[in-house]
Amino acid sequence: VAPALVGALVPAAGRGERLGPGRPKALRDLAGEPLLVHAVRGLREAPEVGPVVVAAPAPDVPVVTALLAAYDVVVVAGGEQRQDSVGRALAALPAGTDLVLVHDAARCLTPPSVVAAVVAALRAGADAVVPVLAVADTVKQVVGDPVWGERVTGTPDRSRLRAVQTPQGFRREVLAAAHRRAGGAATDDAALVERLGRTVVAVPGSEEAFKVTRPLDLLLAEAVLRARS
Ligand code: CTP
Ligand code: MG
Repeated sequence: VAPALVGALVPAAGRGERLGPGRPKALRDLAGEPLLVHAVRGLREAPEVGPVVVAAPAPDVPVVTALLAAYDVVVVAGGEQRQDSVGRALAALPAGTDLVLVHDAARCLTPPSVVAAVVAALRAGADAVVPVLAVADTVKQVVGDPVWGERVTGTPDRSRLRAVQTPQGFRREVLAAAHRRAGGAATDDAALVERLGRTVVAVPGSEEAFKVTRPLDLLLAEAVLRARS
């Protein structure tokens, strides 16, 4: 039996507000190329990945299609929320793609070894897989308003907390069901699967799979690229 085909969905339609004013985040420059080009190249360096669908900001679909012409990807217009963008990309994924990775364009330096670890767990039978790292900071739970004042209500045991990265991997029908039944927004796709009561497996992530979110992250990304070359 041929192994199940693995596809990848790349949500890249966000504005990048926390990065500050400028082009949408996926089109911002990193060492001479847009973040999104780094991200898609990284996926293409992973031999496990077949079809790739990118969700781009709607006005930038022609630009992104041209940018990624060499990488054999389908480009669709993303939506208002990340979840909408993933849903639109999923709808454009070719039939017969039974395993799906969802990978943030903003995690543009993710090493292929993380893709391999996620796919291996899927092939071993997991419904859903997330790459994770231990948390360095102690995390507090708060109530109140960030401007008017917050009060700490608790401190979860840090040894049991994990920071979650992408690519997250899913059996296609599990991801589709999770998105169909999504009650309210979630910041990752695994959370929707958890709401279905399905098991989500964690595998080791990578420090280099950090999400470019704030200006300091762009400096870090440049340093990582320099260290690699
Ligand atoms: N994303 C998307 N569609 C949206 C919102 C986000 O495809 N409507 C994508 C982003 O392009 C990014 C990934 O989801 O690759 C993770 O989101 P995030 O890091 O929050 O990016 P932005 O939403 O662009 O940034 P910000 O929240 O600072 O505006
Ligand atoms: Mg966002």
